Amino acid sequence: MKAVVIEQFGASNVMKLVEQATPSPGYGEVLVRVRAASVNPVDIQTRRGDYKSAVTLPARLGVDCAGIIEKVGEGVADLKVGDEVFYVPRLLENEGSYATHHVEKASIVAKKPVSISFEQAATLPLASGTAWECLVERGRLKKGDKVLIHGGAGGVGVYAIQVAKYFGAHVVTTASADNADFVKMLGADVCYDYRSESLYTDLQRDHSAGFDIVLDTVGQKTIENSLSLLAAAGRVVSIVDMAVPQNLMAGWLANAEIHFVFTTQSAKRLTDIAKAVDAGGIKPIVERVMKLTEIVAAHNLIEAGSRKGKIAISVD
Ligand SMILES: NC(=O)c1ccc[n+]([C@@H]2O[C@H](COP(=O)([O-])OP(=O)(O)OC[C@H]3O[C@@H](n4cnc5c(N)ncnc54)[C@H](OP(=O)(O)O)[C@@H]3O)[C@@H](O)[C@H]2O)c1
Repeated sequence: MKAVVIEQFGASNVMKLVEQATPSPGYGEVLVRVRAASVNPVDIQTRRGDYKSAVTLPARLGVDCAGIIEKVGEGVADLKVGDEVFYVPRLLENEGSYATHHVEKASIVAKKPVSISFEQAATLPLASGTAWECLVERGRLKKGDKVLIHGGAGGVGVYAIQVAKYFGAHVVTTASADNADFVKMLGADVCYDYRSESLYTDLQRDHSAGFDIVLDTVGQKTIENSLSLLAAAGRVVSIVDMAVPQNLMAGWLANAEIHFVFTTQSAKRLTDIAKAVDAGGIKPIVERVMKLTEIVAAHNLIEAGSRKGKIAISVD
């Protein structure tokens, strides 16, 4: 098999495509012939050494996988050879999916949506799974909720907008002015330019009833700034670290809940997402498909910023 490995942390050119022995699935595991992966910010963060203490070198990147089951280990009941699947490989604990083959625990592997390609499916597990976990499982999203999504044009944001609309929410989002039409095409009802100095006063003035859920995918002082935008007992859900000290007092007055999410693997969640995709409620947003041999260029594109959707990696 072929795999992209890093033997040191650093710039994109530390990634090398090498030959490795194809692994066999152990008890409760499946061997997947990878057909597609995708690029996420966590791949770049891992590659440059942000999680040094949790990563053993040499390491393999890749936290999205779509492929076909090639072998099934003992003790696997629900999956069989030939099944088309998609999943989030165990983050930071396991070999990643930038490879032609990948072994994973069957319990976190789900059947891929039938109506889309492997490349489209590979853009869903981490980003749409995180959006679903934040809004549905932590935020307790329901029809009629008012939801504010910070970073609606990002990998997580493009799916968060769609998940919120799928559940019948009113969706307000922030994006750069260039992406306003893009996020509205995804279903956002209103978009605010995050570069505007009056962003938070505008949001407060225009949405005085407050938001039931605010999703923070951008960090900095977003939690502090968003607490005063909440409806009573509203929820702020953040997926980014709190490197900046923040004053959370406004949350006390609102009886707010603040949730931090480091996404967990769940075959059930992905099965629910696959149903929503096949029903036409969530569409994969693929800006570009690149090859595994182009992984260095794909990382460079993500690091350059200003994307409209995800970069899928085709593994043929
Ligand atoms: N905790 C978890 O489980 C988890 C899971 C997935 C992702 N994450 C993290 O979440 C973050 C976002 O991930 P992603 O995949 O969505 O990233 P991404 O695809 O790189 O998107 C980032 C988006 O944020 C927008 N943006 C930048 N500054 C902003 C601001 N101040 N306000 C509003 N939008 C802003 C950018 O818009 P423009 O391009 O228009 O400037 C871009 O669309 C990353 O740090 C990632 O590591 C965490």
